[in-house]
Amino acid sequence: MKQKLVVLSGAGMSQESGLKTFRDMGGIWDNYHVEEVASPEAWKKNPELVLRFYNERRKALWEARPNAGHIALASLEDRYDVEIITQNVDDLHEQAGSRKILHLHGELRKARSTADPSRIYTLHTPELNIGDVCELGSQLRPHIVWFGEPVPNIVKAQKIMEKADILVVIGTSLVVYPAAGLIHFAPEGIPIYVIDPGSPNLTLSGVVYIQKKASEGVNDLLEKLEHYRLGFNQKE
Ligand code: OAD
Repeated sequence: MKQKLVVLSGAGMSQESGLKTFRDMGGIWDNYHVEEVASPEAWKKNPELVLRFYNERRKALWEARPNAGHIALASLEDRYDVEIITQNVDDLHEQAGSRKILHLHGELRKARSTADPSRIYTLHTPELNIGDVCELGSQLRPHIVWFGEPVPNIVKAQKIMEKADILVVIGTSLVVYPAAGLIHFAPEGIPIYVIDPGSPNLTLSGVVYIQKKASEGVNDLLEKLEHYRLGFNQKE
């Protein structure tokens, strides 16, 4: 049976695809106040601004392609049972060919009804505007988990973490909860690799830290995993 390799990814994963991170210098939250564009209060107060913000994010996604990091992660499925838990709202893991992906914070390519949240629609253009409605005639909103809203997939994510044999954390500052708390659901003692050119907010011990961007870092990871796998098999 293949070992389960769980990936927790964040905005840094897609940085080399041309999508901005949130908290790096020049990141998205340098130009916007999060509570003005990504909260239920913002949606009530100024839905046009919220839609414009996500239309910009979507336009960037429409131009983006998976980078070498996304592609190398997809290639790991030959050898491992890979499950990706992502905080990203892009679909670059999907485009790269990864098959098991759980989105914690929603998906940019989808919209949902404000009257009935189970009505979810795939968007075929980057724009979602006032007046775009569901079959019930209600305004559509971005299918995004805003600050202050519950994270519907968190329990599923915890269960995936609990089954991990190997954990890989890529491109996340680990400051947004509950996502950041997921690493504590991984079984004690499993190998943990962290790929990030910066310094995520991480307090776990025994972590192998690959201080590189995702594309180069995932390549290093493949080598390290191969060493680990060979060592692992010898012990059997
Ligand atoms: P952040 O912007 O907080 O963190 C990005 C991380 O990626 C940092 O640790 C960077 O050092 C790292 N990084 C930058 N470039 C990289 C690269 N090329 N390769 C690898 N790592 C790189 O983004 P997240 O942790 O994803 O939520 O943010 C979490 C949540 O906060 C997001 O999902 C979003 C945001 O507000 C919502 O909008 C609900």
